[in-house]
Amino acid sequence: MSFNRIAIYGHRGWASSAITNALIASKAPVKVLYRPGSDASGLPPSVPRVEVDLDDQKQLIAALQDIDIVISLAGREATSTQHAFVKAIPSTNVKLFVPSDLVFRNDAESALRVPVLKAKFEVEEAAKEAKIPITLVYVGSFAESALSIGIFGVDVPKNRVIFSGDSANQQTNICTRNYVAAAYASIFATTPLAQLQGRAIGLSELRATGKEIAAALKKKYGVEPRIFRHSLEKINNELDNAIKSGSPLALSWYCRKAWGEGIIVKGVGNLWEVEGYSKATLDDLLVGGKLEPYRDVGPETSKALDSIFH
Ligand SMILES: NC(=O)c1ccc[n+]([C@@H]2O[C@H](COP(=O)([O-])OP(=O)(O)OC[C@H]3O[C@@H](n4cnc5c(N)ncnc54)[C@H](OP(=O)(O)O)[C@@H]3O)[C@@H](O)[C@H]2O)c1
Repeated sequence: MSFNRIAIYGHRGWASSAITNALIASKAPVKVLYRPGSDASGLPPSVPRVEVDLDDQKQLIAALQDIDIVISLAGREATSTQHAFVKAIPSTNVKLFVPSDLVFRNDAESALRVPVLKAKFEVEEAAKEAKIPITLVYVGSFAESALSIGIFGVDVPKNRVIFSGDSANQQTNICTRNYVAAAYASIFATTPLAQLQGRAIGLSELRATGKEIAAALKKKYGVEPRIFRHSLEKINNELDNAIKSGSPLALSWYCRKAWGEGIIVKGVGNLWEVEGYSKATLDDLLVGGKLEPYRDVGPETSKALDSIFH
């Protein structure tokens, strides 16, 4: 078994920090590239790190010497900065680029009108055009955000659910941050690169319909959750308005549209199973209290997400 040499970009984020820790723990040689203004002091001393300004191609190319896989975990706001890797990789010996996707296949016309999804798609297309082998990792939704902040129309803390389109009967695909982190280590530490290049890898810790989530909430609280219903027509209109006005709610309307149309599970695609990992169930998360908190999204986003529950 030989390890792949991995460079990670964007190591301090909500999902990215857990993924970075898991990759470091895998014993694969990991080098962290961090942007000026970032802070690498929290990394274990044994982990090589290098400050890189993505606008400086020379510096980036130099930092990618002796690397097999570039794993970008850039946060939403930084999605387009990943074009710097697409530009640099052809001048290196990097054999695989893993852009920061972590959603689900989203090349539908409506998805490409949502700025962050469009930006992710454009990075992936640019890499393909540059003939850089890529691997995409799809998770559907992270449990911690999908079940607690309302973005998918599920609000566990306030015991309420929006049935969006047919989401009462359609499954969504959910992974905890810990599962995704374990999966990155399981996928990238030692798998021969030829088995990863050009692949879209789906992760699934659990799947649940809106009705199953509502039933788990009833079990948790002993009372039915408040149920709201949004037709696909309403969702499409709201999505159009959110896109036109530049509202951050566009992603939420799109994700709920996708769930209500039953395309999230399809969009996650073929699954990778993490050997030996004990997956959480919906009951573990909702009834057993194992759902970990998501990051603080701030009062403005909280208020905006709250406004969709009517
Ligand atoms: N499907 C879902 O439900 C879901 C939920 C959450 C996240 N995601 C996806 O998961 C991926 C990682 O998410 P995350 O929550 O870990 O991201 P994050 O916390 O927002 O950011 C990850 C890293 O990106 C870098 N970064 C952030 N903003 C930047 C900016 N404006 N300019 C330059 N660099 C910036 C930072 O690197 P430094 O560490 O160097 O500062 C940061 O630690 C993203 O692709 C995100 O879209 C999906």
